[in-house]
Amino acid sequence: MDLRDRHVVVTGAAGGIGSAIARRLHAAGARLSVTDLRGADMLAEELPGAVSISADVSSEAGNIDLIEAARSAHGEVDLFFANAGVAIGTDPMDAEGTWETAFAINLHAHRWAARHLLPAWLERGEGYFCSTASAAGLLAQIGSAPYSVTKHGAVAFAEWLAITYGARGLRVSCLCPQGVNTNMLNSDVVGGGGGDVVRAVGNVLEASEVAEVVHGAIVEERFLILPHPEVGDYLRHKGDDPARWIAGMQRLQRRTLGL
Ligand SMILES: NC(=O)c1ccc[n+]([C@@H]2O[C@H](COP(=O)([O-])OP(=O)(O)OC[C@H]3O[C@@H](n4cnc5c(N)ncnc54)[C@H](O)[C@@H]3O)[C@@H](O)[C@H]2O)c1
Repeated sequence: MDLRDRHVVVTGAAGGIGSAIARRLHAAGARLSVTDLRGADMLAEELPGAVSISADVSSEAGNIDLIEAARSAHGEVDLFFANAGVAIGTDPMDAEGTWETAFAINLHAHRWAARHLLPAWLERGEGYFCSTASAAGLLAQIGSAPYSVTKHGAVAFAEWLAITYGARGLRVSCLCPQGVNTNMLNSDVVGGGGGDVVRAVGNVLEASEVAEVVHGAIVEERFLILPHPEVGDYLRHKGDDPARWIAGMQRLQRRTLGL
């Protein structure tokens, strides 16, 4: 997609990967609606023409309000980047609310946004849905079942959208980074010490480096975005020999978490 004059909405844009993506797509000429729980005012001030929208994407109503506010500001959405996410929870014994929050933000938000974007996109034969899942959505997040499961769901939903609506003009990309230097990784909210595992297994990228890769993938309209190319190798190993992959992950868990 040529991003010049395109209306791009980025959720979870107050910091981290979302801010960096918004900056990079703005530099490519996009008109931005940047949104987060309490808006993204500082970012909007930095990017001429950008509007900041406060939105909680953990409910369908929050997604509807967000999409309507963005349409009022800049007209129909051309590209929606469902990037907001939470790294919470550990295992099946977590409180029900922890699992519900992880599902709502990491997965259902994508579905709710798509539900309210698709009718107009399919009508005009064009639209672009990007989501931030994670390498954990292709592989696993050691230490956090809610994160692993919801990120796998996000990958599956993006694949399904691409398969189902590709012939009707919908383009879909799914961003699956490993470690990125943001509040999420640094505050180690990934359940069960998972942040330590992420740091132990590979390069931690800056959000701006991820945004550069994202920009290139959107221009090429590439489905799977892997800022850490080794994640593609891990995925191939998993596909080739799932039992060996599980055994390797068990060793990694013992080594890094002592479990
Ligand atoms: N940092 C990493 O190592 C890493 C790796 C893989 C994937 N990711 C994913 O990247 C995305 C961005 O995360 P980040 O690393 O920039 O961390 P971050 O914590 O800086 O950004 C997440 C943003 O989502 C927002 N958010 C959370 N709940 C929300 C809600 N209900 N409504 C609206 N906004 C909400 C937060 O306010 C925050 O600004 C997430 O989906 C995360 O799971 C991060």
